[in-house]
Amino acid sequence: MRTAIVTGGAGGLGRAICRKLSSDGFMVYMTDISEDKCMNAIAEMQLENVQARKLDVTEEPDWIAIYDDVMAEFGRVDAVVNNAGVNIRYDIEECSVENWDRMFQINVRSVFLSIKHVLPIMKAQGGGSIINISSVCGLVGHRYTNESYTATKGAVTLLTKSVASRYGKFNIRCNSVHPSTVETGIVNKFLSDPERMKERIGEVPLGHLGVPEDVAGAVAFLTSKEAAFINGVQLPVDGGTTCD
Ligand SMILES: NC(=O)c1ccc[n+]([C@@H]2O[C@H](COP(=O)([O-])OP(=O)(O)OC[C@H]3O[C@@H](n4cnc5c(N)ncnc54)[C@H](O)[C@@H]3O)[C@@H](O)[C@H]2O)c1
Repeated sequence: MRTAIVTGGAGGLGRAICRKLSSDGFMVYMTDISEDKCMNAIAEMQLENVQARKLDVTEEPDWIAIYDDVMAEFGRVDAVVNNAGVNIRYDIEECSVENWDRMFQINVRSVFLSIKHVLPIMKAQGGGSIINISSVCGLVGHRYTNESYTATKGAVTLLTKSVASRYGKFNIRCNSVHPSTVETGIVNKFLSDPERMKERIGEVPLGHLGVPEDVAGAVAFLTSKEAAFINGVQLPVDGGTTCD
């Protein structure tokens, strides 16, 4: 059975990604800041072949533990989806050094630790797929989004390309996915303002926001055999937002 680890799995996009990968036949490890959060999500969605694990993505020992766990149970890690992320919304002029560093800890250190510890496993097993959830803000500066979020997502974009370029020779594919606004926990409160909702819809050529399943579909494609020669791409899931 193929195995996949999804971080931030109990959140809006994470849930949809876990559901899609389990329906595609993966044994999925849904991980998040607490195991209870994952267990509740799994129970609510009545998911099969999904296990709950606590994984704080900023903590190196948690990464070592999850990979040890999956290797002990299944002997391989076929896919890892680095999805956990936050936006502490401060414009650069109001952003404290602590908030700036916290953004990099959660959004970038996480991806570094994930990749650092999965590469030896994937090298030994003859390949694997790493998928990093960046954002449209990892492709372009975005007038409605603060600098710290954009800087972290840009870092994820180039970390992806670096790993794709240097580890492709081990049959390890590393790609990133770049959603525009999708209604989930990270943005729902903010979108309750009708003006902001209008603003966000207005920037999408397709004329509506995406749903978590749009992102999950892109992730599933990148894990699939059909994507066997796709390495180092930045796949926007944005209804054309970044075309202007
Ligand atoms: N929703 C959007 O519009 C959108 C757009 C572009 C990119 N993204 C990116 O997609 C990813 C998922 O976002 P979402 O919309 O599902 O957000 P969400 O807030 O619904 O879920 C994020 C999840 O990450 C978890 N998390 C936070 N800190 C963590 C930590 N230290 N360790 C482990 N887990 C932690 C949270 O508990 C939560 O379950 C993020 O990286 C986000 O930046 C989202």
